[in-house]
Amino acid sequence: MQVDVLLGLQWGDEGKGKIVDVFTPNYDVIARFQGGPNAGHTLEFQGSKHVLHHIPSGVFRKDTINLIGNGVILDPMSFKEEIKGLEEKGIETKQNLYISNKAHLILPTHRLLDLALERQKGKQKIGSTLKGIGPTYTDKVARTGIRIGDIISEDFHSQYNTLKEIHLSLLKSYGLIIEDETIDQLSFNEYEAKWMEAINLISEMKLVDSENFINQKINDGKKVLAEGAQGTLLDIDFGSYPFVTSSNTITAGVCAGLGIAPSKINRVYGVFKAYCTRVGSGPFPTELNDDFGQKLRDQGNEYGATTGRPRRCGWLDLPALKYAIMLNGVTDLVMTKADVFTGFQKLSVCRQYMINNKNVDFSTFNLKQENLECYLHEFEGWNENINQVNDYKQLPANMKKYLDFIENDTGTQISVISTSADRTGIIFKNDQMFN
Ligand code: IMP
Repeated sequence: MQVDVLLGLQWGDEGKGKIVDVFTPNYDVIARFQGGPNAGHTLEFQGSKHVLHHIPSGVFRKDTINLIGNGVILDPMSFKEEIKGLEEKGIETKQNLYISNKAHLILPTHRLLDLALERQKGKQKIGSTLKGIGPTYTDKVARTGIRIGDIISEDFHSQYNTLKEIHLSLLKSYGLIIEDETIDQLSFNEYEAKWMEAINLISEMKLVDSENFINQKINDGKKVLAEGAQGTLLDIDFGSYPFVTSSNTITAGVCAGLGIAPSKINRVYGVFKAYCTRVGSGPFPTELNDDFGQKLRDQGNEYGATTGRPRRCGWLDLPALKYAIMLNGVTDLVMTKADVFTGFQKLSVCRQYMINNKNVDFSTFNLKQENLECYLHEFEGWNENINQVNDYKQLPANMKKYLDFIENDTGTQISVISTSADRTGIIFKNDQMFN
């Protein structure tokens, strides 16, 4: 049996959590392969809203196995809160949740280092979620990090103190005074004490050699779905560097972040919003700083699930989408939030990038060039509410024109269309997808 992948094709927040939740009944294992608490996957069903940060979106289905892979970095405090929040809602979390012993730990001082680095960058700041992502992956690559499996070793506290001391001297050199800072409204000492308590919870979880675990599942004929976080344009190598996250968010990241061979990858579901959004800084060529942008933000409730920050909004960027399809080997496109366009008289997509009226290829390297222009293609909008529509044939004619245009331009089928935030708002255009 092979592995399917579901990931974001834009700057994150494409609505991946909901789609994984809808797809989950077709899979035995859902596995996260990169990122950490910077992710916020929102799922809505039975009138209730849930936001996940580390835990795979399969947690709401009783028999699904959920794996946090080696490519993920984990914050014990945020993880404990996540578990608590789910258990308060009566959701069983521990039975089917496995964590790689090779996943790296986010220390309290990683959070402060993130803050110090952002402050040092001033106007050039990345707009990080300040969850300690960059500094933790830095320690992983520098070979100084601490892994989940280390928690149960006898010298865990000595490892912790050694790394903490390195961080403290770095923080001092950045001019950050620990006593003046808080983390999640707690003083450093209070936060550290709670962090240590949360470590105890993790030591009681199922810690596994995740690469052996998942390959055994594959050999046993189980169906695996790898769930991406963030999006392709935030990839450390191919995103709009340096305004990116610190992991490989693309299909290739699945192999390294779970220990799965490339030949095992089967379908790749690329999730994209009907328009574009971005949180944090960095280039965004189709951004709308006008009424259209505000309308998208209001109708699409475009506020961050992790940080609550208002998201920047703009038209769909087809050159960027094609770039993401190329990098990921997307077999099926999944479009989300098309319902947000209801009531728009006109809408547009960026079809081509130009400099001095000459067509140029899309590249994340030159995205911030000031003379870069987007050639827009305009569409007539629609007024019909599509939230309850589950049949492609019943979609407004103008929306079908929009979908056809995207399929033709990208040369990739749109197999699934999400028509509302709820689990039930979904259209399967390709009904052979899971066969
Ligand atoms: P970091 O990953 O927290 O360091 O943030 C780096 C950049 O990625 C910032 O612009 C963040 O806003 C953005 N980012 C990180 N995680 C997400 C996400 O899950 N959705 C959308 N943007 C994200």
